[in-house]
Amino acid sequence: MSKEKPKSTSIITTAKEKEERLALMNAQALEGGGADRIEKQHAKGKLTARERIDLLLDRDSFEEIGRLVVHRSTDFGMEKQQFLGDGVVTGYGTIDGRPVYVFSQDFTVFGGSLSETFAEKIVKIMDMAMKNGAPVIGLNDSGGARIQEGVMSLGGYADIFYKNTLASGVVPQISAILGPCAGGAVYSPAITDFIFMVEKSSYMFVTGPNVVKTVTNEEVTSEELGGAQAHACKSGVTHFASKNEAVCILEIKKLLSYIPSNCEDEPPRVEYEIGDEVRTDLDSLMPNNPNHPYDMHEVIDGIIDSASFMEVHKDFAENIICGFARLAGRSIGIVANQPMSMAGVLDIDSSTKAGRFVRFCDSFNVPLLVLVDVPGFLPGTDQEWNGIITNGAKLLYAFSEATVPRISVITRKAYGGAYDVMNSKHIGADMNYAWPTAEIAVMGAQGASEIIFKKEIQAAKDLNEKLQEKIDEYTEKFANPYIAAGRGFIDEVIMPRNTRKKLIHAFEMLENKVDKLPRKKHGNIPL
Ligand code: HXC
Repeated sequence: MSKEKPKSTSIITTAKEKEERLALMNAQALEGGGADRIEKQHAKGKLTARERIDLLLDRDSFEEIGRLVVHRSTDFGMEKQQFLGDGVVTGYGTIDGRPVYVFSQDFTVFGGSLSETFAEKIVKIMDMAMKNGAPVIGLNDSGGARIQEGVMSLGGYADIFYKNTLASGVVPQISAILGPCAGGAVYSPAITDFIFMVEKSSYMFVTGPNVVKTVTNEEVTSEELGGAQAHACKSGVTHFASKNEAVCILEIKKLLSYIPSNCEDEPPRVEYEIGDEVRTDLDSLMPNNPNHPYDMHEVIDGIIDSASFMEVHKDFAENIICGFARLAGRSIGIVANQPMSMAGVLDIDSSTKAGRFVRFCDSFNVPLLVLVDVPGFLPGTDQEWNGIITNGAKLLYAFSEATVPRISVITRKAYGGAYDVMNSKHIGADMNYAWPTAEIAVMGAQGASEIIFKKEIQAAKDLNEKLQEKIDEYTEKFANPYIAAGRGFIDEVIMPRNTRKKLIHAFEMLENKVDKLPRKKHGNIPL
């Protein structure tokens, strides 16, 4: 019988101590800035960094990276104030089973302010996201640069900005602003693809109300200056504004369901059953008077899979609609003029809004559907002096260089330069359809008649009668899709009810489209 070796109690004790030490450190890290500061955070109606991650990711999928990182600062007694993780929770997990990388700034630790090590943690997961082809989601809630660290913090910001730029177009980058985001800190979210803000608890500005008061003598609150509504409606800085954090996080997850994980991937596809291709309601949607508005959202709903539209920039530049939808289970990006707002005219804001959306879709292989009802570009000194020429050119450029499948449907007006810009055949669209109500012309019938028949009208006994006669003549000749169809600029004139069916078939046909731009370093979009 072999004698069992006596167990060494000292080894057991040491192993246990080691485990306890680790458990203690983990527990300390999970506490963030401590119970009092967490309570303050909750009292403001805000979740903690970790609670936000829990809401965002699939249950138990989060794996933290850098939980034990601490700052290296020794100024102002900082060596005595160490919080494990140093104010930002970073790692990876899944959303609907798809990998994502996340950083979540912890306002309970030094106000979520950014130190050198804090920045290193963020850069690390961005590098991993790029190598492994998964989106980066940043949950921002920070007092800005860690004041005690000075230029080390500024350097950290710049490292992140640089990485944001390198990652742009490689993996989707999403920023949620869930608290303060001020000064140069705004430029990381600004480079990312989509910004989400929460009403009443988040704000973004380069200079806050105090500086504004000193420099311009304007009295303005943080909310008025840089709250969710200001950026959703006035500046267009944020793409989405949600009423609370839970809704914001749900919206982020929804957005991800339309887009691929990286630029080499295809967007996710959902199950789809054939059966509702013909939508007769669309036939009666167009008003008899071509100058009367209708809601382009109804056209969108009449084409896409039921309730699948997710609008981007809903409250900004409402004269153009941008958003993601599904067509027979496929993800598509939609750009559509909105006759209900400024007759759907193109102006500076609508051009930049749609231009940026088109470039996102093209970067990430989301096919584009363009619904056209556009009376032209907005005239006026305001537009000219603020650069409608350069800004309108952004949309033209964005469509022209897009190599994803691109289809247009002209529902009514397609006038002047705006006809060319809105994804015409001439700038590389793959399929161009028009409804019988389409009017493809240099300008509206009245404006055209007043110019080209000026002498004839002035010589007439009854000016109005003559003008009307000429308008009718012009309308008969040009205010229809048939000259364009005769030239092949329109591939088919279709009844509205058949639009969905035609588009399903056309996007299916274009599924394996391969198109390349001429070799270049990069183009020079008119910024
Ligand atoms: C270090 C900071 C901090 C910062 C806040 N704290 N901001 N610590 N650096 N930037 C700490 C506070 O000392 C406090 O610590 C805790 O975070 C919470 O801050 P409070 O002021 O109590 O919170 P609140 O009243 O909600 O006000 C939040 C705030 C305010 C509006 C963000 O803290 C603030 O104005 N902070 C300074 C903002 C700022 O000027 N940042 C630098 C901007 S320049 P305790 O221990 O009490 O909990 C910048 C440049 C970036 O960011 C450039 C990039 C290129």
